[in-house]
Amino acid sequence: MDSGKRVTFPLLMAVGTAVLGSLQFGYNTGVINAPQKIIEKFINETWSERYQEPISKGSLTAIWSISVAIFSVGGIVGSFSVGLFVNRFGRRNSMLMANSLAFISAILMGFSKMASSWEMLIAGRFVVGLYSGLTTGFVPMYVGEVSPTALRGAMGTLHQLGIVLGILIAQVFGLESILGNDDLWPLLLGFIVVPAVLQCILLPLCPKSPRFLLINNNEENKAKNVLKKLRGTSDVSSDMQEMKEESRQMMREKKVTIPELFRSHLYRQPLLVAVVLQLSQQLSGINAIFYYSTRIFEKAGVEQPVYATIGAGVVNTAFTVVSLFVVERAGRRSLHLLGLIGMAGSAVLMTIALALLEQLKWMSYLSIVAIFSFVAFFEIGPGPIPWFIVAELFSQGPRPAAMAVAGFSNWTANFIVGMTFQYVEELCGPYVFVIFTVLLLCFFVFTYFKVPETKGRTFDEISAGFRQTSASGAEKHSPEELNSLGADSQL
Ligand code: GLC
Repeated sequence: MDSGKRVTFPLLMAVGTAVLGSLQFGYNTGVINAPQKIIEKFINETWSERYQEPISKGSLTAIWSISVAIFSVGGIVGSFSVGLFVNRFGRRNSMLMANSLAFISAILMGFSKMASSWEMLIAGRFVVGLYSGLTTGFVPMYVGEVSPTALRGAMGTLHQLGIVLGILIAQVFGLESILGNDDLWPLLLGFIVVPAVLQCILLPLCPKSPRFLLINNNEENKAKNVLKKLRGTSDVSSDMQEMKEESRQMMREKKVTIPELFRSHLYRQPLLVAVVLQLSQQLSGINAIFYYSTRIFEKAGVEQPVYATIGAGVVNTAFTVVSLFVVERAGRRSLHLLGLIGMAGSAVLMTIALALLEQLKWMSYLSIVAIFSFVAFFEIGPGPIPWFIVAELFSQGPRPAAMAVAGFSNWTANFIVGMTFQYVEELCGPYVFVIFTVLLLCFFVFTYFKVPETKGRTFDEISAGFRQTSASGAEKHSPEELNSLGADSQL
């Protein structure tokens, strides 16, 4: 097999270990959906003990909403801080250090019941949010930098696979018969210690990013040795040459800070693409499902809403695997477009199901079909692609700053959907998914006109494509022209 496509054991080990962090992110996204009532009971009991009176409905809702949403606030801060770590400590060691946050959070959340303190629960959710925010920068960056060009999309999709597996595990563990009950919920939340320990054992055995070694640290021999292991061949000259090309380019652009990223017209186009792709992921409404599906299914008249939620988790995982296998064949741009339009169609279906529910009882089945297909189309493109494409759109110099800005946009949109969905749903009733349909169509149009294909192109070729565009007047080049730099986008 062509060594550029070989999945070697060291590569799998490096990527597999890194995405344990993605698993943590997913786990904490999904973990509070099922045990809401049980934890609310704990908050109520604690309150009564302290103040000798039961908690009011308003205070309970507020404490619960804060416990849910503070996770994304941590995510916003964490993702924005990525640049403080990756160049100073390297990608691998940054991931290693972040685990201290996972341990702190596990202690805070795991012992909150014993200490009769919902404040500890909130603090723990914030800290694990910080961890997850950092992870959504560190992991795609590390994975993008250790993977050969021909496998960057597939390996990048493993980040999303880690996330969806985390969500699924949390949904299953959250069942009342497993950990989602009065006695064991602290264990459910404290479980994050397990992947953290595992990652601390395995990361030191994984290689550092060869791009970081060569381009940031100028350690050519070390970079070469790492590459030989990762690629499973002693001839790594083409990889080395490509990295050196990127390095030369970087000498000219140096390290780029976030304000410089915004100021330079060179980065305007890729930055716009990166940010809008993140927004398309979150404003598609996906987390309305992953935070509130049980409630949505309940309203749609589904009899066993918790199992329907787990069903959504299974479909979510299955389709991420599908994406893993097609992303290097079909191309990022085509898959993203297909995913967005499919989600828009499913959202229309969902609206029909909710609107006709009163008249036709079987519409509750249609709502299950609609949500499953919504989730399936999400994982075809809008789920995995935005996470790894940012590392592809920027070269080594601006990459950390770009990852920070993209992560910040993603988490902010995540926060907005998480906070406002329930209120908007009350306002719009069965028509709430119309909002997502409109947004999805707008993102489809943007992707069609602005997003270039990155499949099969080296980091350097991709940024050269953007440099050309900005040099000759940003608007003149269509994505098809950028594609002609070396990639075809057939579906
Ligand atoms: C993506 C999103 C995350 C969402 C998940 C669902 O990773 O970033 O917010 O919960 O997909 O699979």
